[in-house]
Amino acid sequence: MTLSENDLWLLSYYRSSEINGALFFGRVARTLRGGPLQANVTHHFADEANHAKYWTRCIEDLGHPATKLSGSYQDQYLEAVGLPANLMEVMAVTQVFEKRVIAQYRRHLRAGDTHPRVRQTIETIMEDERWHVKYVRDALEEMAGRYGQEYIDSTLARFTAADEEVYAKTLAEYGERITFLSGPDQPFEDPFAEGAP
Ligand SMILES: [Fe+2]
Ligand SMILES: [Fe+2]
Repeated sequence: MTLSENDLWLLSYYRSSEINGALFFGRVARTLRGGPLQANVTHHFADEANHAKYWTRCIEDLGHPATKLSGSYQDQYLEAVGLPANLMEVMAVTQVFEKRVIAQYRRHLRAGDTHPRVRQTIETIMEDERWHVKYVRDALEEMAGRYGQEYIDSTLARFTAADEEVYAKTLAEYGERITFLSGPDQPFEDPFAEGAP
């Protein structure tokens, strides 16, 4: 099977975004002192690098080399919110971003005519993404004593607003390529909430 030009672009965009995620968390991992968060962020860094590898293989299996793309979602996102000022802000930006990734991959799975190889790749990646949301949420909970719940909440609200703006801009920019992505966001379903499947 050959991918359409738009499909090839979108899968390559995912690959680029995963690479940027890996580079970001690699840098964060390097700054952390020894402890559980250091171990988790290092694991996270490795996961995002693997995701880039999965997309590269998936695209190859579908008959193409991945397209080299210069930009990624994170670039626009960090440009909009500025660099996080401390470790709590790094975790907050990560929380918002990981939720966006899960919502995006869910959207893709719902699109219906997704190729089985693409579906398999997204499902494999989603296993890790759920864990990312969970450990980051736990880390933020632990930080409440040090940073204050109010500061954490307002930071999450600020980053969420920026994310919505950047996502809307991305859809406007690339909407023709990704028509199935238009339409309202589904509410985020927390995979760890009570009663979640
Ligand atoms: Fe990822
Ligand atoms: Fe992730």
